[in-house]
Amino acid sequence: MTITANWSYPTAIRFGAGRIKEIAECCQAVGMKKPLLITDRVLADMDITKSTLDLLERGGIGRMLFAEVDPNPSDINLEAGVKAYKDGGHDGVVAFGGGSGLDLAKVVAFQAGQTRPVWDFEDIGDWWTRADSDAIAPIIAVPTTAGTGSEVGRAGVLTNSETHVKKIIFHPKMLPGIVICDPELTCGMPPVITVGTGLDAFIHCLEAYSSPFYHPMSQGIALEGMRLVKENLPKVYANPNDIEARSHMMSAAAMGATAFQKGLGGIHALAHPVGANYNTHHGMTNAVVMPALLKFNRVAIEDRITAAAAYMGIDVGFDGFFDYIMKLRADLGVPNTLTDLGVPDDNIDALAAAAIEDPSAGGNPIELTLDAAKALYRECF
Ligand SMILES: NC(=O)c1ccc[n+]([C@@H]2O[C@H](COP(=O)([O-])OP(=O)(O)OC[C@H]3O[C@@H](n4cnc5c(N)ncnc54)[C@H](O)[C@@H]3O)[C@@H](O)[C@H]2O)c1
Ligand SMILES: [Fe+2]
Repeated sequence: MTITANWSYPTAIRFGAGRIKEIAECCQAVGMKKPLLITDRVLADMDITKSTLDLLERGGIGRMLFAEVDPNPSDINLEAGVKAYKDGGHDGVVAFGGGSGLDLAKVVAFQAGQTRPVWDFEDIGDWWTRADSDAIAPIIAVPTTAGTGSEVGRAGVLTNSETHVKKIIFHPKMLPGIVICDPELTCGMPPVITVGTGLDAFIHCLEAYSSPFYHPMSQGIALEGMRLVKENLPKVYANPNDIEARSHMMSAAAMGATAFQKGLGGIHALAHPVGANYNTHHGMTNAVVMPALLKFNRVAIEDRITAAAAYMGIDVGFDGFFDYIMKLRADLGVPNTLTDLGVPDDNIDALAAAAIEDPSAGGNPIELTLDAAKALYRECF
């Protein structure tokens, strides 16, 4: 089945295999004449990036590239990106990549016109109102992984290179004006990235679904997002060119990010400090710590996880859901422990102190105290 669709929420989305060919037209639609395409260093050398630049050039838009973007991008990448944007006289950003490229590109589009330091726009209270919103450049987003859902998000995650803390930079106008979701772009992901990003999408849905806040729209989206990952992640792992399954994974990624407006939780709170200090892959780190958090949260989420298991066709209840997660992780080659992921265990106190300060911690269904965070990390090593 070929899946093609045009959606209007949470933003304009052109969904379907091959639709990257509409990129120049999308730039014109949002009034960009000289956009800067921002992606990460590895993607910069790949055919999907080169052919996208070709499409822009043929559409009369030119081929301008900035690719000094690291995994878990930092303020150093941001500074270089803002300089390239200003020096080039650009009027918009094509955000191209996985979460790292998308986030950095979105924050460049935001920050290029601001006078205050980027950390003044952390996602705290109404700090975003400090920004000059008229100075935010238009953004077109093209995801090449199916995981973070950053293409439909209003924030970018930026690592502070001095403190090694991940901060969320937020502004409503960081939501891209148009998104091209072309699942063909994701077929070349190495298996470990397919798995890490796919489980990130699943965990966005799981944590949003489990968070205690009232948001039935997100609840419904999260539930169907989990089901889509359950049905399709094993398929794309077995057959990377299964476009139908890649399409469903791309939807699940966007659904996860839409749903987590309801809140994330302890899985992300524990994973963020690990990623910021040891540069591990974000989604894979989440996948490693997921079982410990599921057990920790059990008393608060048993009823709703039982309902989710029934919807997803899992036998039966919370225990069945937990067993399903453990088997899925094993089938997909997820490391069992943070040690297996290559993280040293000599820094648990500092990691735990950072985890309870992480913005995701507040969405955990059970309060994440310092002692609880330490015990959870010990369980994960
Ligand atoms: N903005 C948000 O809401 C949000 C949510 C979750 C995570 N994040 C952030 O996103 C980042 C992680 O993003 P990610 O998981 O997509 O990984 P990533 O962007 O770091 O990409 C991982 C690797 O895969 C490569 N890659 C990407 N697409 C490819 C493709 N189609 N073919 C071959 N290789 C490809 C990249 O070059 C990179 O080497 C982290 O910094 C995390 O903090 C943001
Ligand atoms: Fe995530």
